[in-house]
Amino acid sequence: MEKIKYNLVKRDKPVVLPEELGFGKIFTDHVFEMDYSAGIGWHNPVIKKLEDIPMHPASMYLHYGQGVFDGLKAFKTESGEVVIFRPQRHIQRINNSSKKLCIPEVDTEFLLHALMELIRIEKDWIPAKTGEALYIRPFIYGSEPFLGVKPSSEYKLIIMLSPVGAYYPEGFKPVKILVTDDYVRAVRKGLGDCKTPANYAASLLGGEVAKKQGFTQVLWLDGVEQKYIEEVGTMNIFIQFKNEIATPKLDGSILPGVTRDSVIQILKDWNMNVTERLISIDEVVEEYKKGNVVGVFGTGTAAIISPVGWLTYKGFEMTFNNGQPGELDVKLFNEITSIHYGKKEDTHGWIVHVENKEVEV
Ligand code: COI
Repeated sequence: MEKIKYNLVKRDKPVVLPEELGFGKIFTDHVFEMDYSAGIGWHNPVIKKLEDIPMHPASMYLHYGQGVFDGLKAFKTESGEVVIFRPQRHIQRINNSSKKLCIPEVDTEFLLHALMELIRIEKDWIPAKTGEALYIRPFIYGSEPFLGVKPSSEYKLIIMLSPVGAYYPEGFKPVKILVTDDYVRAVRKGLGDCKTPANYAASLLGGEVAKKQGFTQVLWLDGVEQKYIEEVGTMNIFIQFKNEIATPKLDGSILPGVTRDSVIQILKDWNMNVTERLISIDEVVEEYKKGNVVGVFGTGTAAIISPVGWLTYKGFEMTFNNGQPGELDVKLFNEITSIHYGKKEDTHGWIVHVENKEVEV
């Protein structure tokens, strides 16, 4: 792979971040970009000013949705170091998503290097408060101008950065979720386990209907029987039963969340009984009625740990922990964020340090 080119812009003012960052509204000065062409492969890597992308109206992505993305985070630790949480795992997931969408894979080491270079250049944009981070959004799209249906022969990969706070406006306050069987997000053997725009497009109408009824999000049921719980779309879901913490198993229609995987590991470290299995919504309702559901929470890169205060299915509302964050939710949030901000030892090798040297351009 060629060396990265640096076409950097000079800031005339220091970066000042607003008190409330929200999610995905602010973008840093630069992006990383590279191109793919059949016969050449990935080439032309450059870090350059963030600006609009010129696109041919026939770009295949615009018509047939051939694209993937991912989301990961960089943090500033207490001692001022810059770290990224499990970047290799995220890059691997980009390649897994790409395989299903017939997008050429990227060299994982090169992409990690590119990502670290971009973050190093943009380190002044990393917020330092607990719950805040620099969200990293890599994405790839088919850019060949062609109206026939086939995999594109040209692609663009872009990494953009956004300083963020909590994903949900509720922050760490419990969210209200509707379990819907009116719509489905994905089916097994389809694209459900890929981070691809189609899954998010499929979730919009159900999400809007839920919002009109006062819910924050939808919990999707399986696409075949609408019987088993799957995921929320912006996060994976965990049900804390009295003697077990269960999460839907990865059967091809659920996104393999990196925070999901980290939480499973942490719960195992704590000697808790964590299982990945089929969980029917009827089981959740029945166990709730018997008083056996202690709590429900979601996990995601953007959401981190999101307590679920209310879950409504067919008009039946279940309330957990009196609508307050549960003990386990708080414990998990503290554990994960302590690893993020370097307050706790990283025993699993999840943290990658970004070198603090001036970039030689
Ligand atoms: C993430 O958690 O990184 C996500 O991608 C969820 C959402 C912002 C699409």
